[in-house]
Amino acid sequence: MLVFAASDKGGTGRSVTSINLAYRRALDGDDVCYLDFDFGSPTAPAVFDIPDVAKEAKGRGLHSYLNGMTGEALRVDVWARTEHQVLRSRPSGAGRLVLLPGDRTGGEFVTDGASLHRCVDLVNALRREFNLIVVDLSAGRSYAMELALSATAQTELRSLKTRWLVYHRWTRQHVMAAADLVTGERGIVSAGVSLGHDKDQLLGAIRFVRAAVPDLGSPQWSQVPPAQFAWMRQCNRELEGIAAGLGIGRSRVLGSVPLEPVLQLQEQLITDEDVLDSRIANIQTWQAIGELAERLADDKHWGLL
Ligand SMILES: Nc1ncnc2c1ncn2[C@@H]1O[C@H](COP(=O)(O)OP(=O)(O)O)[C@@H](O)[C@H]1O
Ligand SMILES: [Mg+2]
Repeated sequence: MLVFAASDKGGTGRSVTSINLAYRRALDGDDVCYLDFDFGSPTAPAVFDIPDVAKEAKGRGLHSYLNGMTGEALRVDVWARTEHQVLRSRPSGAGRLVLLPGDRTGGEFVTDGASLHRCVDLVNALRREFNLIVVDLSAGRSYAMELALSATAQTELRSLKTRWLVYHRWTRQHVMAAADLVTGERGIVSAGVSLGHDKDQLLGAIRFVRAAVPDLGSPQWSQVPPAQFAWMRQCNRELEGIAAGLGIGRSRVLGSVPLEPVLQLQEQLITDEDVLDSRIANIQTWQAIGELAERLADDKHWGLL
């Protein structure tokens, strides 16, 4: 399965949540590779806690591969290379977890026929080795997004199960931007259709993920003054209304990850050790990411609308 992680804005939680998703699918036994197509701001090495990758990827990362500067994109075995104490040895029953880093270029690249072919070749090679390929796209209507849509429209990749996760934060601006990225002008659907995708099929393969959402039912918020709590509940209701009105209400949402103090301060993987032993992270965050990881692979949550 191929999964694209997209968002209209930066700072939505797309990378950190997707990396946690990839980690959880690998813990569950999937062989997972994670492709960092966000060449402007590659965060994956930091989140996986592999500090040397940025240097190593120079001239050998995905950007260089797609531009034809190297014949093979660098692969980094996360279990073997991470400096994260808990991740150091591959847990029993876990699948492979491999990062294909982007090389830091400070920006975008122009896609041409040659880079499209290289992209299709790469995905075709990876699908033989991995159950799950997660691709983190850069924010907005990017070249990376266009490349993703062009590649999956090619006959070689048509049979590959492909899903799109569109991330957004739980604010009015973010909700509107996420809806627009999918159904707006030059959005995923219109760009996809012009590249040869079937509209309904493409729409059926897109789900939204709400990230860093204050969960008003959790104990974290029970301490706030009553007036503040009442305002938050009212705002929450209004946001649900806006999302539903834009066609990104609950039936289109794959899951919601609560506002997590650890992630507010640091981009990192949330491990069971963080939740059960050191207790620095909330169990609700662990559960929400687990639920997302399950639903990602469960056909029941996907398909034509
Ligand atoms: N559930 C969450 N709760 C709190 N902060 C979060 C959560 N998810 C992500 N963040 C934080 O938000 C910031 C942006 O996340 P990131 O994944 O880098 O966004 P993007 O890839 O969309 O630009 C990071 O500092 C990250 O740690
Ligand atoms: Mg990112």
